[in-house]
Amino acid sequence: MGTILDGAAIAAQIQSEVRAEVARLAPHGIRPGLAAVLASQDPASAIYVRSKVRTCEELGLASDLILPPDTVTTEEMLALIGGLNAREDIDGILIQLPLPPQVQARRLLEAVSPEKDVDGFHPVNVGRLQTGQAAFPPCTAAGMIELLKRSKLPIAGRHAVVVGRSDIVGKPTAILLLAENATVTICHSKTRDLRALTLQADILVAAIGRPGFITADMVKPGAVILDVGINRIATREEFDKYFAGDQRREELFRRRGSAIVGDVHPAAFLQAGAYTPVPGGVGPLTIAMLMANTVRAARLRRGLPRPECL
Ligand code: GUN
Repeated sequence: MGTILDGAAIAAQIQSEVRAEVARLAPHGIRPGLAAVLASQDPASAIYVRSKVRTCEELGLASDLILPPDTVTTEEMLALIGGLNAREDIDGILIQLPLPPQVQARRLLEAVSPEKDVDGFHPVNVGRLQTGQAAFPPCTAAGMIELLKRSKLPIAGRHAVVVGRSDIVGKPTAILLLAENATVTICHSKTRDLRALTLQADILVAAIGRPGFITADMVKPGAVILDVGINRIATREEFDKYFAGDQRREELFRRRGSAIVGDVHPAAFLQAGAYTPVPGGVGPLTIAMLMANTVRAARLRRGLPRPECL
């Protein structure tokens, strides 16, 4: 069994740096502010967004939680975003995805001012990331790089294999790993002989959104595994497939009626040199990096230099 990479502990470290930065800005009359827009009824999204707002409060950032009805139109959302772009007290705007199906997500993400795009989803920020001048790297991808660096795990020259090509996680993670001089392979649902590629990975990123997809036979012994998946399982059959014999999880499963498994089968972690657990690995870092991006946005918008620590 490899070393557990304690994402929650590293996220707490980053958060304390953000808190210190917020305190440094306060005497100048600056309080970084985040607007979080949650339009869908998706229960997981509601949990994530509330957790983001709560973290703002804990770190001294201002926050505004906006809850349009899930019948909201693209035009109404565009008007809302226009208002947030203009607000002096808002430094970061987060449009929680997924959006209701009638809304044109792409148009909304392009309407967010790039200076306030703390999720890093606007094409301007995507382009900046590609060209090595990222103002706001997407939070999950940036969190994984922070995790590797702060855990003193080398990236340069390593073969990083990213399984999953989403705009939110897979693609930006590959770009950031490349910027750190990894050799990067991106795999996806049409990749032929996936196992032959994952077996080459020194750093294996699982961002597919399918429970337990990466199995032990797909992992090179000693590899670093970063598991981005958060999949809820609710049947006994599924539970046993991943966690049979795990007493701690068994008790939680009985109490809650469900459990969370990542995109990596727990048995695959036995092969790893180091790995992120689910939950408590990559997840907490996403929120920490969102806070870091918001503080950075507050500084950049006022022409102040980037904070040194973040
Ligand atoms: N949905 C899933 N992950 C994310 C994220 O990082 N940001 C936003 N806005 N929506 C998400």
